[in-house]
Amino acid sequence: MNNQNEFFVIKAKENGVNVIGLTRGSDTRFHHSEKLDKGEVMIAQFTEHTSAVKVRGKAIIQTSHGTIDTEE
Ligand code: TRP
Repeated sequence: MNNQNEFFVIKAKENGVNVIGLTRGSDTRFHHSEKLDKGEVMIAQFTEHTSAVKVRGKAIIQTSHGTIDTEE
């Protein structure tokens, strides 16, 4: 895959933020759910197994495309 070393950063602004990884390929399903508490940071990549990520809760998400602040 291209851009294999690109990563994104998620910082939780409240307790219980969920970072959910969705599978790559024709079968799109959740494969991992990571719970972050306030102030916790997750650094992750898109991989062979993960093509999409869903963030549930208040968080700041930094990508190479910019920074997104989830609304309440
Ligand atoms: N085992 C997963 C993978 O290699 C781990 C992972 C990578 C992940 N990026 C993620 C899990 C983003 C949740 C969200 O694809």
